[in-house]
Amino acid sequence: MTVEALPSPVRAGFPADFVWGAATAAYQIEGAATLDGRTPSIWDTFSHTPGKVRNGDTGDIAADHYHRYREDVALMSELGLGAYRFSLSWPRVRPGGRGPANRAGLDFYDRLVDELLAGGVTPVATLYHWDLPQELEDRGGWTDRDTAYRFAEYAAIAAAALGDRVPTWTTLNEPWCSAFLGYGNGVHAPGRTDPAAALTAHHHLLLAHGLGTAALRSALPAGAQVSLTLNLAAVRPLSTDPGDLDAARRIDGLANRIFLDPVFHGHYPADVLADTAQLTDWSFVRDGDLAEISRPIDSLGINYYTPTVVAADDPAAPAPRQDGHAGELSPWPADRGVRFLPAEGSRTAMGWPVDADGLYELLTRLRDDLPGLPLLVTENGAAYEDYTDPSGAVHDPERVAYLHGHLSAVRRAVADGAPVRGYFLWSLLDNFEWAYGYSKRFGIVHVDFASQRRTPKDSARWYAEVIRTGDLPH
Ligand code: FCB
Repeated sequence: MTVEALPSPVRAGFPADFVWGAATAAYQIEGAATLDGRTPSIWDTFSHTPGKVRNGDTGDIAADHYHRYREDVALMSELGLGAYRFSLSWPRVRPGGRGPANRAGLDFYDRLVDELLAGGVTPVATLYHWDLPQELEDRGGWTDRDTAYRFAEYAAIAAAALGDRVPTWTTLNEPWCSAFLGYGNGVHAPGRTDPAAALTAHHHLLLAHGLGTAALRSALPAGAQVSLTLNLAAVRPLSTDPGDLDAARRIDGLANRIFLDPVFHGHYPADVLADTAQLTDWSFVRDGDLAEISRPIDSLGINYYTPTVVAADDPAAPAPRQDGHAGELSPWPADRGVRFLPAEGSRTAMGWPVDADGLYELLTRLRDDLPGLPLLVTENGAAYEDYTDPSGAVHDPERVAYLHGHLSAVRRAVADGAPVRGYFLWSLLDNFEWAYGYSKRFGIVHVDFASQRRTPKDSARWYAEVIRTGDLPH
């Protein structure tokens, strides 16, 4: 049989049952910050604190998805999305993080899930995309072990309400950011700047993942899938010099193995414990925690944007830290001796170098390190300086090129045996990009935040074509 005679999904290299999706997160799109019983999260507090978010932007209204979800789901159906990855707002579902569930908050997700199913789009729910109830932060937030137990209760509430219709659940989105940007360099909520607190938060987030996994398993029907999404780093040493290799080892430890070892192997990496020994003795790890954290999960979600190039620090030639994260302080605990450099290539509006090979490197590494574990790309995409032309169209060729390159990398990884089951583009809609506010647009659908008008960009039409054909148009 010639290659031409194969059905197109096979010829294209994506498995026929490959899941094509898009992703968003509650605080970034919902708005309705005080409606129907929702209480503030750490992001409400943070965004309302002067100087924390560019232009003083907040998620109070965001893309008003709370009121416009029907229109948004209709857009998803039009694009042919097979799945939609969204997050639940913890303070909407369980205001204050303790006490009774909030029926009115759950009702919103009920309506959303029903609308998705009616539109032929499979819901994929994330429980924690960074909006910790402020009351829990007031008690210590993720530095307080108790928060992990409250998370498990919230997971049980959400699963009991939606588990009959939501087949895939993710406990946490990018706990690296929650811990290291939230408690390490403070560019994310709650804005604390204490590397020891960041490591404590890291452990309690993983404990929440483990306890949450158990809670989900007991509340969900058999066959439901439980997952975790990590922003693993494609770490590259600048050269093979021993100093550069050691910098790469150190950052691989703090970005990757500090998650993968406890979650999949039930221990923390010895070199990371040694590297961080001056900051903490890790006594917050209690007996039994690692067994809890390493409960089996069904897949791993990977968010990828740009690689991480590191070298040995050169005190004679200090360079600005270019690890893709804003802020004057380093988010990396114990990164002494490490220099972060930009990868080659053009940059997105975030200043992040475009380098699709990093995604291939990550996916094939996970193929080797975690044999057989299904992988999902749960976020990938790019911000560019989009504008609406006089005809009302948004032409975004750079985003199309970015997506083409990264989907080609996914296809190459699949061809080389990486068990990648799906791809969720970040993001469906322009939205509140955390500390950058509305200044960065990641959507394939343009949002005019004044009128809330949605306009699919050229990239949305391009992605619809990818989904329709299972192939990458030129
Ligand atoms: C990821 C976040 C997501 C979005 C993208 C650009 O780190 O998970 O919410 O902000 O970056």
